[in-house]
Amino acid sequence: MSLATPGAGHAQLMDEVYRHQRYFYDFTRKYYLFGRDRLIGRLALAPRERVIEIGCGTARNLICMARHYPEAYFFGIDASEQMLDTARRQIAGAGLGSRIKVAQGYAEGLDPAQFGVPDFERVVFSYSLSMIPDWQGALATALGSLAPQGRLHVVDFADFAGLGSCGQAIMRAWLRRFHVEPRTAILTHLEMVFDSKEAALDGSLEILRARYAFIFEGSAGLLSQILTYVAGATQPLEFPTVR
Ligand SMILES: C[S@@+](CC[C@H](N)C(=O)[O-])C[C@H]1O[C@@H](n2cnc3c(N)ncnc32)[C@H](O)[C@@H]1O
Repeated sequence: MSLATPGAGHAQLMDEVYRHQRYFYDFTRKYYLFGRDRLIGRLALAPRERVIEIGCGTARNLICMARHYPEAYFFGIDASEQMLDTARRQIAGAGLGSRIKVAQGYAEGLDPAQFGVPDFERVVFSYSLSMIPDWQGALATALGSLAPQGRLHVVDFADFAGLGSCGQAIMRAWLRRFHVEPRTAILTHLEMVFDSKEAALDGSLEILRARYAFIFEGSAGLLSQILTYVAGATQPLEFPTVR
């Protein structure tokens, strides 16, 4: 299941980016990583469901989720040991060590066995796809780690079109300084599918104000359609089979 991973260089880069930022990350990001709490509120987890957050950072979301859904289990992987150091301290501080496990690893190489579980009912990417170099590989690996009725949840930057061309350029340039690149190909595909109204879709898509960010959730079938598209399919889109 493991795809090619980016090598130690990417983990080092992420450690450099977050070595100092991790101390004020949670406080500052609440002003511009919008939609995370909305995604968490919509998870509607059943007891004993297993959730993994890929690129879990400081565990801010994992802790929020664990408090919101006290009967579910949570896992997180992140490329950066620096971020995970903060994550482990915060999880312990919140007294949630028995329900949240985190490990260093690349999204592209995720294997549920590293946590001793067969699969996950939910996979969450919160502002991480825009930082993962092989984001297509990360999505394919996520698909492989989903339980048969599993669901994917994504919140990430959109295309900023509502900010005008100047605002858009400023946002893009600013994010690039942090090695962040909005994955507009995913959004393009999702909008085509959701706008078409030709098929019953097992999922939902919300675009936040000014097209700043999007929140998506959907079935494994829908995820597999996204992957076909982003892999460069030129044929008209086939609509996802509802699983
Ligand atoms: C912008 S932060 C988001 C953190 C958290 N999900 C949140 O919403 O606050 C992106 C995280 O993705 C991690 N990351 C980047 N590339 C990764 C990869 N290839 N595999 C796993 N994690 C990665 C970074 O180390 C960082 O912690």
